Amino acid sequence: MKLLAAVAGLIVAAEGAALGPLGSQFQNALQSVLSLGKSDSSKPPNILFVITDDQDLELDSISYTPLIEKHLRHKGTFFRNHFVTTALCCPSRVSLWTGRQAHNTNVTDVHPPYGGYPKFVDKGFNDNFLPVWLQEAGYDTYYTGKLFNAHTVDNYHSPHVNGFNGSDFLMDPYTYSYMNSTYQRHREAPVSYEGRHTTDVITEKALGFLDDALEGERPFFVVAAPVAPHSNVDPRDIANGEIVMTAPIPLERHAHLFQDVKVPRTPHFNPDKPSGASWVRNLPQQNQTEIDYNDHFYRSRLRALQGVDELVDSLVSRLEESGQLDNTYIIYTSDNGFHIGQHRLPPGKTCGYEEDIRVPLFIRGPGIPEGYVQDSVTTHIDLAPTIFNLAGIPPRADFDGTAIPVTPDFGGTRHEHVTVEFWGRAVMEGIHSQIGPGGSTMIPNNTYKSVRLLGEGYNLYYSVWCNNEHELYDLSTDPYQLNNLYTTTIQEDGPKILGRSLTDAINRLDALLLVLKSCQGATCIDPWSVLHPEDSIQSLRDALNKEHDLFYAAQPRVSFDWCDAGYIVEAEGPQVPLTSRYGVSWDVWV
Ligand SMILES: *[C@@H]1O[C@H](CO)[C@@H](O)[C@H](O)[C@H]1NC(C)=O
Ligand SMILES: *[C@@H]1O[C@H](CO)[C@@H](O)[C@H](O)[C@H]1NC(C)=O
Ligand SMILES: *[C@@H]1O[C@H](CO)[C@@H](O)[C@H](O)[C@H]1NC(C)=O
Ligand SMILES: *[C@@H]1O[C@H](CO)[C@@H](O)[C@H](O)[C@H]1NC(C)=O
Ligand SMILES: *[C@@H]1O[C@H](CO)[C@@H](O)[C@H](O)[C@H]1NC(C)=O
Repeated sequence: MKLLAAVAGLIVAAEGAALGPLGSQFQNALQSVLSLGKSDSSKPPNILFVITDDQDLELDSISYTPLIEKHLRHKGTFFRNHFVTTALCCPSRVSLWTGRQAHNTNVTDVHPPYGGYPKFVDKGFNDNFLPVWLQEAGYDTYYTGKLFNAHTVDNYHSPHVNGFNGSDFLMDPYTYSYMNSTYQRHREAPVSYEGRHTTDVITEKALGFLDDALEGERPFFVVAAPVAPHSNVDPRDIANGEIVMTAPIPLERHAHLFQDVKVPRTPHFNPDKPSGASWVRNLPQQNQTEIDYNDHFYRSRLRALQGVDELVDSLVSRLEESGQLDNTYIIYTSDNGFHIGQHRLPPGKTCGYEEDIRVPLFIRGPGIPEGYVQDSVTTHIDLAPTIFNLAGIPPRADFDGTAIPVTPDFGGTRHEHVTVEFWGRAVMEGIHSQIGPGGSTMIPNNTYKSVRLLGEGYNLYYSVWCNNEHELYDLSTDPYQLNNLYTTTIQEDGPKILGRSLTDAINRLDALLLVLKSCQGATCIDPWSVLHPEDSIQSLRDALNKEHDLFYAAQPRVSFDWCDAGYIVEAEGPQVPLTSRYGVSWDVWV
């Protein structure tokens, strides 16, 4: 254990030493620019960030937003292998705005005690997240829309959110009330927008902040976080003691669109055979009433997204008029994905399957190729480091992610893995047969750890659930994740991964997951170096070399002692892998 800690410590220390005081270099550069007066061409770049709520990539939502396609896909780069690390709003957003895995923020849920805005504050992140760092580095920062869950009309001032020059946040419990939203501006009292569509309201507010930002001397960071295409929630609509989540409500001018569109009928849409593991495997097949409702739900999401499409168009037009478009990076993504009917699931997120963890990511701006599709694996914890990189700020040692390749010849680190983690409950939206205990829409014990791995010749998803069920999908032959390959016995004629048996592959994947589930900083970025501090192993392919078979067979396994609703280390089994030393020989700990 000591050895491992020492290795991690060394890496962190080395990085820290190289960086010097955060941002000072940048600030000096900025100061010299500013002293020359307002010179737009040499001003550090602005950043406009649009983050939608629950927008899928896999169900093809981006094919229905022509203006985003025109402004961002054609004029920027599409990151087609972009993943979230926790498929739930609040944990995912905290990871996004801090650059850390949820196991390092411990904001793992949408509500206290394990998550929500109060937990974000308790963990000290209100003084230590992206807008605060950007202000310190010389940016003016603005935010409108949904920040975190459990940020409410009662707690918005205790304390106020830090780090923004201007803010106008959506407030719970009215965040998802499309026609009765409540926003809370600067340090003022919350205001109800009863009768107005939330997307119209946020468009006004976002354009207002963009105008404020454009008037300033400093570069800006402006975030618009609309609630579409999240489900609609009317806080008065309670059934069975629980809030009801219904199809999103589009703007009236979009309500008639896409009448014939249905959820794509892929092989994993409401399959005849159950699939997945744990509670997913026990789901009943959906009946025609549910299928019809889900198609309606799907169309409602596409309609609700039209308002976001127009929001992006308005923001881009305003930037263009101001002459600042060419000095502005525009980043577009969502907090997590969404499923409707795949694996028989009612509408919702919280799973580790492709629909929930893959989200759209577009970036356009100075130097970013137009119409380019980037294949490299990128994640939400890479976005704060990416913004640092674009703004010319040196990375923080506590980032669990690394700047993403924004150009084809990007010289920085690339990675093959995504660490996917989840704690607590799955939530069913829309209509569905009652499947939680006591007819609840909540399913407990949706706690799991997974690794998604994409490299040359392999495309894998490996997960361990808190009831110790396992999943392994080879997406190169099973893109819809219908055929769980997990096994512990070597079958000589069974499926192979990179020419090795499933057992040999699983031994590697499990050890990798053991590192990733408690990694910090540099060890999250280069996990193989924890297992092989003295070899140059950088990928699953390298690790699958036969000479490491015994080393991997001897590793402790990822497992849980019980299912908990939060990050309780004692429930989460072994924490520390064996470490390979001196090349082929193995560890002192055996
Ligand atoms: C934005 O806030 C920062 C930090 O408080 C401050 O230094 C900066 O002057 C503000 N910008 C504007 C335009 O007020
Ligand atoms: C709309 O929201 C406000 C709170 O901001 C609430 O007082 C009011 O009752 C709501 N109206 C409806 C129709 O739900
Ligand atoms: C289909 O499922 C819904 C609940 O999701 C239920 O109300 C309805 O009775 C079911 N229909 C049939 C024909 O079983
Ligand atoms: C959830 O997990 C706990 C602890 O592992 C167990 O006691 C409980 O029965 C499980 N509940 C369900 C609904 O599976
Ligand atoms: C995470 O937070 C929960 C709730 O406050 C706490 O019980 C748990 O010990 C924390 N986990 C870690 C690893 O700090």
